[in-house]
Amino acid sequence: MKPENLSPLHPQPKQLPESPLRVVQVSDCHLYANPGRSLAGLNTLATFDSVLDLVKAEFNDADLILATGDLVHDASPLGYNRMCDRFENMNLPVYCLPGNHDVPDVMRQHLNRSSVKIQEAVRRGNWIIIMLDSTVPGREGGHLNAGQLEILERNLDRNPDCHALVCLHHHPLPIGSAWLDRMALDNPTSFFQIIDRSPQVRAIIWGHIHQAYEGVRRHIRLLGAPSTCIQFTPQLDQFSLDQLPPGLRWLELEHDGSINTGIHRLSSMPMKLDMSIAGY
Ligand SMILES: [Fe+2]
Repeated sequence: MKPENLSPLHPQPKQLPESPLRVVQVSDCHLYANPGRSLAGLNTLATFDSVLDLVKAEFNDADLILATGDLVHDASPLGYNRMCDRFENMNLPVYCLPGNHDVPDVMRQHLNRSSVKIQEAVRRGNWIIIMLDSTVPGREGGHLNAGQLEILERNLDRNPDCHALVCLHHHPLPIGSAWLDRMALDNPTSFFQIIDRSPQVRAIIWGHIHQAYEGVRRHIRLLGAPSTCIQFTPQLDQFSLDQLPPGLRWLELEHDGSINTGIHRLSSMPMKLDMSIAGY
């Protein structure tokens, strides 16, 4: 039957909206070669496992996981292999980028299995996710070198029909904490020059700051994530531990380019924080 012959009693089926791309961001896991080691009283492997359990329980419809740096505190092959085992058990694609505590070459070697990858971009549906390396050997602060800026520009230029999510470890703008802002991205102007001529960029996400952050720059969402272990208190100029439990950021990347996002944490602090530490 031709569509024009359909009676009003037989309306055409409504077009179902495209389902969003569901992303979970985990960050700043700070695992060690020694699985018994703690950071400020928290066993980082145990809190990482608890956050992955949370993903399985609450986000079992996730399409992929993004891990945004400081994955292994001592950049040890043992730490990366242990993390890789855990990620592989999630039965989801996991894409990783390095933070200042990681060593990219070691990470590339040991966080590399069929479902766990370090790669510059991931295209899913009408979204492209671009994964940048903002690390500088021996430095806590971040920098995007010419090669990384080229990766950003090339992936945006080649996918003008895609909405873009840009990911890196370091925050690209001050967040109001002097001690963390001293180790932000040091060349945000070069970064934002590329972003600003790419209208398809919808959001920039990062780790490093161990706290939830939400801002907007023009139409672009700016999003920082909590750590899977210790949290830092927002808006303080000196190092300060926050007593919030470990957590993750979830994102729903909609077909029309809009984004729903939020933070999800363990229901309580799993171990007693050692508030006496003066840094990490
Ligand atoms: Fe970190």
